[in-house]
Amino acid sequence: MQDNASELELRKEFNRWAEDGRAEEMESHHFPITHSMLELMQLRPDERVLDVGCGNGWFCRQIATFVPDGLVMGVDVSDEMVRRAEHATAANPRVNFSTGTAEKLPAPDGAFTRVVSVESAYYWSDPARGLRETFRVLAPGGSAWVLINYYRDNPHCHQWGTHYTIPAQLLWAKEWAEHFLRVGFVEVTHRRILDRSPTPDVNSGRWFRDVEQLRLFKAEGALLITGIKP
Ligand SMILES: C[S@@+](CC[C@H](N)C(=O)[O-])C[C@H]1O[C@@H](n2cnc3c(N)ncnc32)[C@H](O)[C@@H]1O
Repeated sequence: MQDNASELELRKEFNRWAEDGRAEEMESHHFPITHSMLELMQLRPDERVLDVGCGNGWFCRQIATFVPDGLVMGVDVSDEMVRRAEHATAANPRVNFSTGTAEKLPAPDGAFTRVVSVESAYYWSDPARGLRETFRVLAPGGSAWVLINYYRDNPHCHQWGTHYTIPAQLLWAKEWAEHFLRVGFVEVTHRRILDRSPTPDVNSGRWFRDVEQLRLFKAEGALLITGIKP
């Protein structure tokens, strides 16, 4: 994505999210599913990890504790999110952040052993291009881990589309897997990651009709798509 209308639109929207304090809210909402993903990832201490759409960097800081001899980089289209990520992260030469887009990652070829992305990929204006970039910045043998809650196979999130003020891609799990295969990933998998945190008794916010729908949404789980760069 060039510095074009959709990039500016995304930046404006997610700068607003950051200013409204939603980055911190996302940490508590996404923690239960990222916890399970981290268990599956089995990170080694010297790995180099990129988080695309890192928000305020909370997941980068968490990953950093697993890779004390490696490095972590967070990229986000929102400069306000990146500013918050830098502010919240104690000075550490092994953790850094950069403003940029999934479609044009600010990193050289083969720089990382893993690329992760949490609740971001469905906002990418061009998922195929984002995944091509993901493939480019991975070293051979490296892997991509894309975790999303908004996907077509889960009918209990479809109403989110009516609340978004920016375009969001509602794809089937199979379509995400096909995108992975098309850019060259092998051993592509998709699976569900359950959010086992307690469900509140009262529904708040506008994302779910009622507590029952929230329960059904959690029972479907988040979608995790993975692939390896040969
Ligand atoms: C729902 S938030 C999730 C943030 C973080 N991963 C978390 O779990 O808290 C989505 C993030 O993706 C970023 N984002 C959306 N589209 C992007 C793109 N094309 N390139 C880079 N970042 C993007 C947004 O700015 C936002 O910070």
